Amino acid sequence: MPPLSTVILGTGSYAPARIVTNDELAHTVETSDEWIFSRTGIKERRIAAPGETSSDMGVVAAQRALEDAGLKPADIDLLIVATMTPDMPMPACACFIQRKLGVPTTAACFDLNAACSGFVYALDTACAMISSGRYKKALVIGVEKLSAVIDWQDRTTCVLFGDGAGATVIGTSEEPNRGLLGTRLGAFGEGAELLYISHGGSKSPTTPESIAARDHCIRMKGKEVFKLAVRAMDEAARDILEQCHVRADQISLVIPHQANLRIIDAISQYLELPMERFFVNVDRYGNTSAASIPLALDEARRTGRIKKDDLTLMVAFGAGLTYGSALIRW
Ligand code: UT7
Repeated sequence: MPPLSTVILGTGSYAPARIVTNDELAHTVETSDEWIFSRTGIKERRIAAPGETSSDMGVVAAQRALEDAGLKPADIDLLIVATMTPDMPMPACACFIQRKLGVPTTAACFDLNAACSGFVYALDTACAMISSGRYKKALVIGVEKLSAVIDWQDRTTCVLFGDGAGATVIGTSEEPNRGLLGTRLGAFGEGAELLYISHGGSKSPTTPESIAARDHCIRMKGKEVFKLAVRAMDEAARDILEQCHVRADQISLVIPHQANLRIIDAISQYLELPMERFFVNVDRYGNTSAASIPLALDEARRTGRIKKDDLTLMVAFGAGLTYGSALIRW
């Protein structure tokens, strides 16, 4: 018997109601809609309500994905949450989502932190665990409440990020050569200091001084990250195409990590694929890190941008510096 294909059975997403426009940010830091839009393509982002947690957002996205798949929480035996903003450092956000959603206590539940590449890492992990035959149905969620770790006085980062969630349900299909065809994951650990949160971990626990200096917030050397992002995403995309013997022009839709429209544009030029083949929603959500690809994937499916037999390429890059690509046949 040929090995079972691991396939996406359903998708769902959630974005908080509150919209923060570039103009609104220009009231609090020295910036402008013109600067933000021309450098990033971002027009607005969603910000979670006070008290709204990552697990709250993840639960709604997961419920929508389960409904799309025609499944119930009771069917899930594996729950992976890609996030770098869990509700608490411990326990895992996955356990809060399990409890709120009613996923059985026999399900394996854990978080995975690969920053903005987290969803691609989690998808690969879930598919490997499912294709081993030891798990049957997985929920893979990417969720971030980045508003909790943004320095709202730092104009070089606060204009870039937003909150949101995306979810997928993974199972198997007997149709060969379908679903996840391959992945290519990697990391440049030497770039860890280009994008980081310095305090609040075991190396430097939070102190009154670190809070006053807002060292529990994201810091980034944007220009260096930009260059590495383009290089790594281009390589990850090329490698996966080569590995799967697929030409770039056979890809119906690329779902790139939504960090910056200029990065997406550069990848489009390197791959010689027109921008129409790239799904873009960075204008409406900004960079939602691990939520970015599953949120875009869900919007792409629900707006008819993905059809059966289409080839979709996901490609991501983030703190670590991690990167990853995944190729899917629907
Ligand atoms: O999720 C994965 C990780 N993140 C990324 O992928 C982000 C990658 N990097 C980027 O997207 C871009 O580097 C940024 C959007 C962050 C910055 O764009 P840039 O074209 O690289 O600008 P820059 O950092 O070189 O800054 C240019 C100027 C600077 O002023 P001076 O030194 O030329 O006088 C900045 O101080 O723009 C200034 N600046 C701003 N001005 C108005 C920086 N942020 C702002 C701002 N508003 N928000």
